[in-house]
Formats: sequence, structure tokens, C-alpha cells
Amino acid sequence: MKKKDPIGVFDSGVGGLSVLRELLKVFPNENFKYIGDTLRMPYGVRSPEDVKDSTFECLKFLGKNDVKAAVIACNTATCYGLKNAKKNLDFPVIGVVEPACRYATLVTKNNKVALIATEGTVKSNVYDETIKEFNKDIELKSIGAPQLVLDVENGNLNNEIVERTISNYLNGLEDFDYDTLILGCTHFPLARGAFKKVLKEMNKSVELIDPAKRTAIDLKEILDQKDLLNEEERPRIDFYSTKDIDKFKSVVQTVIVNKIDKTFNEVKLK
Ligand code: DGL
Repeated sequence: MKKKDPIGVFDSGVGGLSVLRELLKVFPNENFKYIGDTLRMPYGVRSPEDVKDSTFECLKFLGKNDVKAAVIACNTATCYGLKNAKKNLDFPVIGVVEPACRYATLVTKNNKVALIATEGTVKSNVYDETIKEFNKDIELKSIGAPQLVLDVENGNLNNEIVERTISNYLNGLEDFDYDTLILGCTHFPLARGAFKKVLKEMNKSVELIDPAKRTAIDLKEILDQKDLLNEEERPRIDFYSTKDIDKFKSVVQTVIVNKIDKTFNEVKLK
């Protein structure tokens, strides 16, 4: 592995661009290879075995493309595929759940944390188990929010449609007095403004946790320890999707606005 090798990023689709956006802030000089498995998304409603296998396949693709490390940006894929990937791949792999939990335990003042995520992530209980490892006194209440994934995927990032969906889900937390809310799906930080507006209307003062920020910092530590940080000045991002590369490209161009060189490629994994 060399310093100039790219960092791999994997998500079920475009949601992981919210993670790439944070990675670019922490790693302005790194090359990236991003794969979005748009053919098989949404991952949030698929079986655990299926998510594990697809995750491994996408990471193997990144490995074949010489990444020096990879981020599983997708929360659902982290829950079902991280352990297997770490065990069976010969490059460092990091997921988003542990960094998010560690940060949430530092931020909460009343030890009441809410999680909004896919149904798959909620059912896995990985967030519950991980957060308890950091602080066993934390009370975590979770909501599965499949409609919110679809709203964001359809481009409703900051309008009445997405606000109504968020409001319906948060009302499901009833009188749970959380002071911290983990946006536990890559799509949701893209609707951060709508979350803020809805919480304000509910008269709630809540800290929003975007798992990507802490994940980027943790990855920097890993690469630094291995002396693999890149000093190159003109980085490049190669994007791959398993379906509809043109649709994918148009979302990339609205989310990743900086002038880094980019390539777009549609790939078949099997
Ligand atoms: N990227 C997924 C996650 O973070 C959400 C979208 C999906 O269901 O594929 O959990």
C-alpha cells in the first residue's frame, strides 16, 4: 500500500455522498474511489445475509482497485457487513456506527439518545449494543424511517414533503426526552436543515449527530499511524455505480461542488 493509493468509500447509493463530503474536508489531498450499489439499493429492507454479501462484493471491488483503506459509509452495511469485511480483507476497513456512538455518548447530557435509521439498522441492534459499550447508562430509542430514505433519494432535501415525513417519525418517539439524535442513515444528513426546522417547531433543543464527521477523524488516525497519509496536491475522485450512472452523476454534481477532477463509470460486479 502506498500513500498515493486512493481511499475507498462504499454506500448503497448516493447517500454516502454525505460521508464523502465530510471526508473531503478532513482529507483535501487524498484520492478517492467511491462505489454506490444503486442496482441493489435500498439495503435497509434487505436480509442481513444479503447485505453482508453485497457489502463484501463492493469492498472487494475497491480492493481490486488498490484502495489503501475503505469506509463503509452505509449504516445498514456497517451493521451487517463490517465484522466480515474486517476479518476477510487485507486493508483497513472502518464503519460509521462506532464513531457515531462514541461521539453521541460525549455529547448527551441526560443520557437519552434517539436514533433515526433504516429498518435494517434498527433491527440489527448494533447501535444499541455499541453505544452501551461506551456508556451502559445510555438509553437509546430507535425509529426505522424507510419513507425518509425514499424522500431524500427523490431529491426532497429541504421542503414540506420531507419536513412532514421527519415530523411523523419524530412524533413516534412520543414523550422520550432525548437531547441527542443520531442521523443513522447516510441519506439523512442531506436533510439536516429540515431536521433542524422540524425540531424547532417541536420546541426541542437537540444535538444532531452526523456519523460521518467522527468517522473521517478516526480514519485519519488510522492512516497516520500507518504512515499512509497522502501529500499529493491534485487529488481525483473516481465514481462507480452499479446502475444509472447518469442519474448518479447529477446527484454528485449537486452534493460535491468542489473542483476536484472526477470520473464516472458504470460497473457490473458479477
Ligand atoms: N445507505 C443506507 C444507510 O446508511 C440507507 C439507504 C438504503 O436503504 O440503502 O443505512
